[in-house]
Amino acid sequence: MNNENKIIIFDTTLRDGEQCPGASLNIKEKLEIAKQLAILGVDIIEAGFPVSSPGDFESVKTVARNVKGPIICGLARALEKDIDASYGAVKFSDRPRIHIFLATSKIHMKYKLKKAEDEILRLAVAAVKYAKSKVSDVEFSPEDASRTEPAFLHKVVEAVIAAGASTVNIPDTVGYSTPFEFADIISGIKKNVPNIDKCVISVHCHNDLGLGVSNSLAAILNGARQVECTMNGLGERAGNASLEEIVMAIKTRNDIFKGMCTGVNTKEIYKSSRLVSKLTGMPVQPNKAIIGANAFAHESGIHQDGVLKKRITYEIMRPEDVGFEESKIVLGKHSGRHAFDSRLKNLGLHLKQSDLNKAFEKFKVLADKKKEIFDEDLEAIIDEEISKVPEKVHLIHFHTASGDRVKPTAVLTIRYNGKVLDASSTGDGPVDACYKAIDKITGISGKLMDYQIRSVTRGKDALGEVSVKVESKGKIFSGRGASTDIIEASIKAYVNAINKRAIAG
Ligand code: KIV
Ligand code: ZN
Repeated sequence: MNNENKIIIFDTTLRDGEQCPGASLNIKEKLEIAKQLAILGVDIIEAGFPVSSPGDFESVKTVARNVKGPIICGLARALEKDIDASYGAVKFSDRPRIHIFLATSKIHMKYKLKKAEDEILRLAVAAVKYAKSKVSDVEFSPEDASRTEPAFLHKVVEAVIAAGASTVNIPDTVGYSTPFEFADIISGIKKNVPNIDKCVISVHCHNDLGLGVSNSLAAILNGARQVECTMNGLGERAGNASLEEIVMAIKTRNDIFKGMCTGVNTKEIYKSSRLVSKLTGMPVQPNKAIIGANAFAHESGIHQDGVLKKRITYEIMRPEDVGFEESKIVLGKHSGRHAFDSRLKNLGLHLKQSDLNKAFEKFKVLADKKKEIFDEDLEAIIDEEISKVPEKVHLIHFHTASGDRVKPTAVLTIRYNGKVLDASSTGDGPVDACYKAIDKITGISGKLMDYQIRSVTRGKDALGEVSVKVESKGKIFSGRGASTDIIEASIKAYVNAINKRAIAG
């Protein structure tokens, strides 16, 4: 790979990412994330803002001491005390960087800093020179660059490069820019700053309009070679450009990002994302690109059929390439027979066509009641429908009423020996009432010896499985039934046991 095509990944999860409300991390957690970022293969870790608190200073120092490979960077305002703190923490790294920022937009200079352009220019140059006296690797950011007058921006960039900055970072601090506009800002800098080839152009885009990644990619296409980003897109307000999206866009669309590449081991992306989410307590939305739980999950029957026939019909990336195990075929009400059949085969369940048809019908009925059908649901369907004992007794309808002020009552309609019969009963509870009603219809009296219920799948709409042991004529008959309704599961389990008893005669 030509060095000109290498896109430097500057990870700021531990600095800007941690500025995300509610995402604070302690030293131990920061170190754990930094170690994983090094395994992921990022080039630079911005570990914190050392002057901001003693805890942040210690975190940056700990990361600098213990994480080998990437450059370790500390943020600083254009003030000697900030630069001293930043140096005091990053100097423990073999590859230290000091990152200085100073706002250059009219809005920030007038209302926040209350300083004129000349003063800002002087402070920026002085700060870079001071940092350069401590480390060789100095980065400068004209904060709010995207809202800065272009002529002043070019002047500041030229001056800080002359003062020794080896990276100039162009932030879209408030996420205000749009891709074409941001691309023009970068090409304007390339065209109008005479010494620009003496430094790396970096970009740092916030996501207030949801354009952080698009703006970063537009900048890359116009000459930026460092991107500042965070895992899971964490960051101040709506966050920063997301690392995983930038890296995978460059890799997946190499026809557009011609020959460009990053040093990221993409197979570590999912693991890194999970770690950051776990330690910051910031969940990843299921539909988040690249790393969301649904990023490789297919629900629609047409899509499932396509993916099973040829993955590339509906998948532009391989899930394994970002560290997911495999694409997920979510079985639900939109799934077709092909996906259903293929999942059964994966579970080692090879059914003959007629059983497959029956099981598929059952699956569709269950899918109308439940959002997602898990493997355990399928096993329960097969157990109940296919490995089934011939039915003398078959449940048609049931109705129960119970509460703390009513006597539990059940009304059941059952087909028994080919006849449709009704019976009602009361009992200690709704299940007991149902079992008594079944006994009335069949004339088979079973003594319930054991009753167990468990949830076989996850979620509020989980499938409940009931197992019973019924004693009749001195023998024990076991039965099993599953349903999203536990009363129905209980009836099915009892009916299953009674059928065995009926066959036994
Ligand atoms: O968003 C921003 O401008 C920043 C700077 C410190 C680079 O985070
Ligand atoms: Zn920022």
